[in-house]
Amino acid sequence: MKRRGAGTISTGDVGERVRLQAWVRRRRDLGGLIFLQLRDYSGVVQVVVRPDEQPAVAESLDAVRLEWVVDVEGVVEKRSAENINPEMATGEIEVILDRAEILSRSDPLSFAVEGEVDATEETRLRYRFLDLRRRELQSNLRLRHKVTLEVLEHLDERGFVNVETPILTRSTPEGARDYLVPSRVHPRSFYALPQSPQLFKQILMVSGLDRYFQIARCFRDEDLRADRQPEFTQIDIEMSFPTEDDIFELIESLFARIFPLAGIELEVPFPRMTFEAALRRFGTDRPDLRFGMEIGDLTDLVSESEFRAFRQTAADGGVVRGICVPAAASSSRRQTDDWAQVARDQGAAGVLTLKKIDGELQFQVKGVLSQTELDAVADRLEIADGDLGLLVAGPSGLVSAALGAVRLKAAQDLELIPADRHSFVWVTQFPLLEWDEDSQRWYACHHPFTSPDPRDLDRLETDPGSVRSRAYDVVMDGLELGGGSIRIHDSDLQRRVFAALGIEEEEARARFGFLLDALRFGAPPHGGLALGLDRIVMVMAGASSIRDVIAFPKTTSATCLMTEAPSSVDEAQLMDLGIALADVEKPNVTAKGPRESES
Ligand code: AMO
Repeated sequence: MKRRGAGTISTGDVGERVRLQAWVRRRRDLGGLIFLQLRDYSGVVQVVVRPDEQPAVAESLDAVRLEWVVDVEGVVEKRSAENINPEMATGEIEVILDRAEILSRSDPLSFAVEGEVDATEETRLRYRFLDLRRRELQSNLRLRHKVTLEVLEHLDERGFVNVETPILTRSTPEGARDYLVPSRVHPRSFYALPQSPQLFKQILMVSGLDRYFQIARCFRDEDLRADRQPEFTQIDIEMSFPTEDDIFELIESLFARIFPLAGIELEVPFPRMTFEAALRRFGTDRPDLRFGMEIGDLTDLVSESEFRAFRQTAADGGVVRGICVPAAASSSRRQTDDWAQVARDQGAAGVLTLKKIDGELQFQVKGVLSQTELDAVADRLEIADGDLGLLVAGPSGLVSAALGAVRLKAAQDLELIPADRHSFVWVTQFPLLEWDEDSQRWYACHHPFTSPDPRDLDRLETDPGSVRSRAYDVVMDGLELGGGSIRIHDSDLQRRVFAALGIEEEEARARFGFLLDALRFGAPPHGGLALGLDRIVMVMAGASSIRDVIAFPKTTSATCLMTEAPSSVDEAQLMDLGIALADVEKPNVTAKGPRESES
């Protein structure tokens, strides 16, 4: 007899015979009756054994305990009115068993696989096979499957061709460390696992493929966080002859198709904001636009004030900026201290408060700002009665970062972020290069293949920091979901950008010779982007970590607790590879890559 899903049985089946193969999630023995709740991929159903009528069935299920696997058959009956369980989808029926067999036993579980989580993250990852029995995790994996199907279909309809690119490859610099794989055939040589298929997809454009995509696994040895894993999946896209508008429209239509799978409706087109505006108004290149509290610049209002800290900052070329936290004038000292700490963590000296209580403006430092100055500041930040202004002074970048972080923390603490609203935005015109103090050199903001904005090209050698790029990110609720750019398709320009990055001709040849070659043979203008599939499914599922949407994720120290990877290997394997192990100290578990790719 064919197996039925436990959760699929309904009142429509009353009187029918059904067969179930499922796990025992609950057992109750009551007045000569045995009740079992059985669970499988589809849900839960109650089955009943009447020992008087079916002694053999009762006997075969006698030993059964939680999480054992059984194979049973019986007839579906409607429950009497008093036995209906409105909490259960199948609560109106039960199955009266006349055959039962135990297929598999289970040791007692050390933690519950339903309801409240009662185990540590470590235990759950160690026993991932059990944790994956949780309905929430299963539904995340199913959602991920549905999203993937929609992506394949949407891109296929738009003429994109799915091409697989190598996993064993040469390193493509993306800002993180590479995972290396030693070559046995070529001693002392290594493959790198791809940080992304960036160069391959560009080369496919040179080959005339026109539109490429791949659900691509990428590998980065970088500092891990809730939204990062060492291996993760990109929806990687590239097209020939695109404008930014073509790419934005493609992604907007894709999002408009997948997000409703999780009940998230969105409006297209998404607003666009330059990097410069995002930083100035929200203090970050991934602004959360679900709430206001925009940063206001106050420098011109206080540069001549009596307050030395402000006057001096302005004189030194710094800025004074602030935000207004609505209805927060009566926040506790502890609360404002917390926010000041957030600002200090970003390198600011702290925050200064400006409260409006009963129509009166009260600045934290008494007597240093005139009433006119206070009024002007309150006016610009739109501080109304009962509101709290938070002001930070210092170098512009630092003040932005501090206020961006404080804005977010205050909004979270005061629950000002509407959970049922979502904001999508394109952040555009990222700088091409950014200066790294530690290594005293320029780095590519996105990657070295990003096209400079032609309007700024004449400053590439003279003022590289001021050159904008044709890079863009798509940001949802303050989370970067994807990023890409229009690329360089001219080998001379690519050489100029390498030079600006301090990559000598010889080094460029050694590392990217194949790309420079390809660009010499009729490379079409091209561009694209990559979306983080894990992150997209995470926000769709309402999960707080991408671990919850990855079947077998790694910990923050990049280990798989279930398989205990990474592990040591046999001496013979090492010999084969010509590898001798040196004594090295275990690095800090959150060891940074050569350079953080995101702040
Ligand atoms: P980028 O490095 O911005 O671009 O990556 C694109 C998107 O991939 C996701 N992502 C990650 N997700 C989980 N864990 C990680 N460690 C991780 N790192 C990145 C993010 C991010 O927005 N080759 C370029 C794309 C291009 O230019 O076309 C690239 O990889 O959602």
